[in-house]
Amino acid sequence: MIGAVFFIFGATGDLAKRKLFPAIYSMYREGKLGENFAVVGLARRPRTNEQFRKDVCESINQFARYSIEEDESCSSFAEHFQYMSLDINNVDGFKALRGLTEELDEKFQTGGNRLFYLALAPELFGNVAFNLREGGLLETEGWHRLVIEKPFGYDLPSAQKLNTQLRQVFEEQDIYRIDHYLGKEMVQNIGIVRFANAFIEPLWNNRHISNIQITLSETVGVEERGGYYDHAGALRDMGQNHMLQMLAMMAMEPPSRLLPEDIRDEKVKVLRSLRAFTSSDDVRANVIRGQYANGETEGKALSAYREEDSVNTNSTTETYFAARVFVDNFRWAGVPFFVRTGKRLPAKTTEIVVEFKNVPDNVYLTEKHELEPNLLVFRVHPVEGIHLKMNAKQPGGEGSVIPITMDFAQSSVVGMNTPEAYELLLYDASRGDSTYFTRWDEVAHAWEYVDKIAAAWKETTEDLQLYPAGSWGPEGANELLEKDGFKWWPVHGQE
Ligand code: BG6
Repeated sequence: MIGAVFFIFGATGDLAKRKLFPAIYSMYREGKLGENFAVVGLARRPRTNEQFRKDVCESINQFARYSIEEDESCSSFAEHFQYMSLDINNVDGFKALRGLTEELDEKFQTGGNRLFYLALAPELFGNVAFNLREGGLLETEGWHRLVIEKPFGYDLPSAQKLNTQLRQVFEEQDIYRIDHYLGKEMVQNIGIVRFANAFIEPLWNNRHISNIQITLSETVGVEERGGYYDHAGALRDMGQNHMLQMLAMMAMEPPSRLLPEDIRDEKVKVLRSLRAFTSSDDVRANVIRGQYANGETEGKALSAYREEDSVNTNSTTETYFAARVFVDNFRWAGVPFFVRTGKRLPAKTTEIVVEFKNVPDNVYLTEKHELEPNLLVFRVHPVEGIHLKMNAKQPGGEGSVIPITMDFAQSSVVGMNTPEAYELLLYDASRGDSTYFTRWDEVAHAWEYVDKIAAAWKETTEDLQLYPAGSWGPEGANELLEKDGFKWWPVHGQE
C-alpha cells in the first residue's frame, strides 16, 4: 500500500481534471492506494477546499473509469484532498506548504513520502524545483519524487538547460519524465510479446523482417492548443517522444534483467544507433512533412490549420510527418522503420505493423495464389490486441492460398476495463518503478536525432506539402515507401 502526499501543481488545469484525478480515483477504487494518502492541489487562483473537492468529484464523474454512482465513495475519497493557492515564484508559499504537508503526514500517516507532479508549462519546472528545496519540502524521512510532463525542452540545448536546473535539486533516479505512450497497455506489451514467445525472437531481425511501420494518426486538429503547437509541430510533439519510444521498444535487445535501468539501457542503445542524417538533402529524401488544409470528414467541413485559433496565418508548422528511419546495428542493418503521425487524419489509430520477408519462390507462389507477406500487428488504439496475418489454404478451393488473420483483442475497444496510461504511470511512480519513464540520456539522444531534421526544415519550407483535412496525409508519405518497394499497410479505420 502506498503512503504518500501527492502534490498536483496545475491542479485547476485540464490534465488534472481529465487524467490525474480520475487516475488517483481508480487507484483508490482498486485498493492500490489504501487510506494513507493525501492530495494537495496547487494553483494560483484561490479556491476553498470544498470547492476543490467538488471539482475533483465532478471530474471523476465525467472522466473516471469507475462511476461514483455505484459507490458513494467520492466524499470519503475527497476527504483526502486539500487545496492551496500558491505563487510558485514565492518561496514563502512553499514554506507554508511545508507546514500543511507535515499536518497531512501526521493525519494520514504518509510516512513522509512526497510525490510532486508538475502539470505545468516546462518553463516553470526549474523554479518549482528550486523552491521545493528552499521551502524545506524535500527534508523528509520518506522518499521524494518529481513527475514532469512533456515537452522536455524544445531542442537538445534547451532540454540540457532544463535538466541541469532539475538536477541541481533532484537526483536522476527521483525524476520521472512522463511519456504517456509508455503507459499504454499494448506498448508495455511489446517487450513481453517479443521476449516471452519462442517463435518470435528468432525471427526478429533483418534476416526475416523487411520493414516496420508505426502509425499514430489522430482525427483532432490542434483544438485550443494552437499557441503551443504552432511553435512545436508534429515532429517535436509526437516524434521526439512517443514515436521514438515505441520504435525503441520494438528494436531493443532483450534486457539481461527486468530492472528499470537494464531496460532503459537497451532503449538508449537503440536511440544511439539511429542513423543520423548527413545533410539537408538526406533529410528531405527521408522525411516528409505536411500541414492540413481545408477538408471534410463525413460531410462536415474542416478548416485549415492556418485558420485555427492562435496559429499564424502563414504558418509553416508541420501537422504531419512521415520518416524512414534506420537503426544501424547488427540486428536491424538494412531494415527501414517507417513512421508517420498527423492531425486531422480520418481515424484515431495507433498501430505497429511488422512486415516479414516473403518466403522464397516456391511451389505455392503461382499466379492463382494471393500470397502476401506475414504481418504481425500491435494494435495500441482504439482496439488493443495483436493481429497476425498468415497464408493458408482457401477452404474448398482448388488448393488456392489466401491470407488469413489471427486476432487477439484484449478489449474489444479501449474503454472501461482498460487502465488509463496515467493510472499505470502514477501507480508506478508512487511505488518507485521508473521502467516506463524516460531517462535523461534517452531524451537527449532523441533530441539529437530530431534536431537534425528540424535544422534542415529551417533552411527552406519548399518541401511542406498541404493535405486536405480528413485525408490520410500528403502523397509524399506513400512515395517514401514505394521507393523501397513497400506500401503502408492499412491500419484500423483505414481498411
Ligand atoms: C500528446 C500530444 O503528447 O499526445 C498531443 O501533445 C496528442 O498533440 C496526444 O494529441 C495523443 O495522445 P493519445 O493518448 O490521445 O494518443
